[in-house]
Amino acid sequence: MKNMEPKSMIVVLTVLLIVGTGADYVRPPPRKTLHFPWSTKASSHPQQVHISLAGDKHMRITWITSDKSSPSIVEYGTSRKSYNSIAEGESTSYRYFLYKSGKIHHTVIGPLEHDTVYFYRCGGNGPEFQFKTPPSHFPVTFAVAGDLGQTGWTKSTIKHIKQCKYDVHVLPGDLSYADYMQHRWDTFGELVQPLASSRPWMVTQGNHEKEEIPILKKGFVSYNSRWKMPFDESGSNSNLYYSFEVAGVHIIMLGSYTDYDEYSDQYNWLKADLSKVDRERTPWLLAVFHVPWYNSNHAHQGEGDDMMASMEPLLYAAGVDVVFAGHVHAYERSRRVYNGKLDACGPNHITIGDGGNREGLAHKYLNPQPEWSVFREASFGHGEFRVMNSTHAFWSWHRNDDDESVRSDQVWITSLVGSGCLAETSRETRNMLIEP
Ligand SMILES: *[C@@H]1O[C@H](CO)[C@@H](O)[C@H](O)[C@H]1NC(C)=O
Ligand SMILES: [Fe+2]
Repeated sequence: MKNMEPKSMIVVLTVLLIVGTGADYVRPPPRKTLHFPWSTKASSHPQQVHISLAGDKHMRITWITSDKSSPSIVEYGTSRKSYNSIAEGESTSYRYFLYKSGKIHHTVIGPLEHDTVYFYRCGGNGPEFQFKTPPSHFPVTFAVAGDLGQTGWTKSTIKHIKQCKYDVHVLPGDLSYADYMQHRWDTFGELVQPLASSRPWMVTQGNHEKEEIPILKKGFVSYNSRWKMPFDESGSNSNLYYSFEVAGVHIIMLGSYTDYDEYSDQYNWLKADLSKVDRERTPWLLAVFHVPWYNSNHAHQGEGDDMMASMEPLLYAAGVDVVFAGHVHAYERSRRVYNGKLDACGPNHITIGDGGNREGLAHKYLNPQPEWSVFREASFGHGEFRVMNSTHAFWSWHRNDDDESVRSDQVWITSLVGSGCLAETSRETRNMLIEP
């Protein structure tokens, strides 16, 4: 800089200062879909291993083999390479035009101890995996990221989630972005295996899971075959909506792409599920679905309105604390809100569709910012929801600042238990939930 004019020197220094303080974060463009080499593993080798909670004290282990005769057994135990339990499950496969899936195994194991590391092996073959079961009581931590895809940004997000201490991954829809290319479901399964084989992944569907072709293919063929969730365990008759409980948290996973009107099976299941929630046993109540109801981004504006008109009164009456959604490729957090207005008894809505998919970010926001919207930013990242006790949870959003995980939004959320809201709405709730 010796020969530089003083004026240009000032410009350079100012630029350095801005970049250095991060005052002006330059948002990155989308990254390319990752390419994976062809697998050269033996055909009985377990691939795409992922796990999910299957009722209290049980875990569903899912994996795929090319070998159709490979058994659906899981050997497991609490010490390495020495398994004292074995379980046999079921398997399925599907065709999608010329594509024929491998053998997809689903094996439920348990009963398992809480907060315990288990070692396991799939199909009597291949490497040993391990997972930790969630605790039976607070604190409990959820990692949350939707609209993942399988790009360079997905890889960055996954790396950051791996660095955090969490118990369960919650995914509000849009997993692989396979978009009819069925082998992309396989590469996605391989990409997420390191995480998804070690902590339960609880997912609900997004539009990219649908892959419906009118007359020729019904929807969710691949998704339902590969990502089986505990719907029978929660009294639902569809893999597209269900609920589960972890420590003192009841989580409702809803379907944005299946019927939700008041005559639908989903609506009736939701009513029945909410009527069973016991806020003494599970002081926290969360709901997760793909299309946000409170969204001040131009992208997907108004798409959630119909589902919201049908189901928002139910969630409100039951006193849901937080709603997580995806779909919009950005981050947004609301104040407690109901029916479009600030309401101390409504949920906080969090849109976290910023996992890193190939479509890139949604940059344009409606102005002025609605009063319910507290924080909004179009960047890739992930969230962490740490429930400390029956009244306090800490939410943080971690932006992929280039490839660093930077905590960019954080807030303490207090549950509606002890707020008076549940008492006020209890009569209304009962009427709404019990009336035929
Ligand atoms: C719950 O956790 C919060 C935050 O750590 C703390 O301030 C509060 O005292 C705790 N409440 C109880 C009942 O332990
Ligand atoms: Fe989506």
